[in-house]
Amino acid sequence: MTAPTDNLRINGERLWDSLMEMAKVGPGIAGGNNRQTLTDADAEGRKLFQAWCEAAGMTLGVDKMGTMFATRPGTDPEALPVYIGSHLDTQPTGGKYDGVLGVLAGLEVIRSLNDLGIKTKHPVVVTNWTNEEGARFAPAMLASGVFAGAIPIDYAYSRRDPEGLAFGDELKRIGWVGDEEVGARKMHAYFEYHIEQGPILEAEQKQIGVVTHCQGLWWLEVTLTGREAHTGSTPMNLRVNAGFAMARIFEMVQQVAMENQPGAVGGVGQVFFTPNSRNVLPGKVVFTIDIRTPELAKLNAMRARIEKEAAAIAEALGVGSAIEAVGHFDPVTFDPTLVGRVRGAAERLGYSHMDIISGAGHDACWTAKVAPTTMIMCPCVGGLSHNEAEEISPEWAAAGADVLLHAVLETAEI
Ligand code: GLV
Ligand code: MN
Ligand code: MN
Ligand code: MN
Repeated sequence: MTAPTDNLRINGERLWDSLMEMAKVGPGIAGGNNRQTLTDADAEGRKLFQAWCEAAGMTLGVDKMGTMFATRPGTDPEALPVYIGSHLDTQPTGGKYDGVLGVLAGLEVIRSLNDLGIKTKHPVVVTNWTNEEGARFAPAMLASGVFAGAIPIDYAYSRRDPEGLAFGDELKRIGWVGDEEVGARKMHAYFEYHIEQGPILEAEQKQIGVVTHCQGLWWLEVTLTGREAHTGSTPMNLRVNAGFAMARIFEMVQQVAMENQPGAVGGVGQVFFTPNSRNVLPGKVVFTIDIRTPELAKLNAMRARIEKEAAAIAEALGVGSAIEAVGHFDPVTFDPTLVGRVRGAAERLGYSHMDIISGAGHDACWTAKVAPTTMIMCPCVGGLSHNEAEEISPEWAAAGADVLLHAVLETAEI
């Protein structure tokens, strides 16, 4: 296996143009994107990506979760493919780069190999995973979770969005139920290139994050049951206030995260009040808790404590409570050989780099269960992500894609 020692680069301008083209699909309200999974905008983004892949001479396969696999053949028909992947779906108020960069940088690697006339022994497959974000259908990384055998497909199909629409029905509606069995593909290796979504690389003035680990997470969904009553005429001592119990649980989650420093986070992203009227005490509150840390024992201890204290807070206020775990993965250690190739590529290309732990979840966290996997990161302005103002520079985007090209070439073998 020979490492490419020359100065191969992707075409940074073409990568940037493609990012800007994709950003026109499902525009947000503040300069970013709303291309949530299985919406019409998602379908349009998929069509555009398919057209680009086919123009680059690739063949598209689609599995029963709607995940897209575009293949550039290798010279050895027996060789397992090297995969590059990420996601084209976005948060409801998402940026232009979260996920999209990894998919389109994969495409740019293929376009560059075509330009350079380089053939690889192993096929190279660019992947767009369905529902990475989990904003519409929890959990996040749903299709890669099914691919890795961690989530049953029937459970995935049955997940519902806040309007009550089922994942399976919406996948059918947009016309992307493929015929491949999920997880039937075997991977020689998997690479994912992503923006950092945090402040470290920019602060440290590094162009490349060599991702060694990803922190684990629990997503909990809490249902509190109180009694609907008039906000004006119900005396304080007669209230069974699910909203107040929710507020106390919020504070407790913050406290648990703070007491587990360094390296733990916890927060609430979504709240549904019923009936959600300003002069009715809520009879029911459903809300989500997201806790993460790279340490497995700490992660599970945080979950246990939060569940116990939430139940106690509700009980003390006479409020009913139920907690369901709707998303989980353990902390991940990426493949040391592939991590070394990413570090070596950054070194060879003269890019400043540092080792980093991913704070966000990625499809790579699931592929790591079934194949040697690693990730590459580039900085993002102010560490801001899951925000329409998410920003990166064309130079940052290109540097990581260069590293991806080299690491993939070393793995797919010329
Ligand atoms: C997915 O984007 C996550 O990390 O929550
Ligand atoms: Mn992402
Ligand atoms: Mn995201
Ligand atoms: Mn993510």
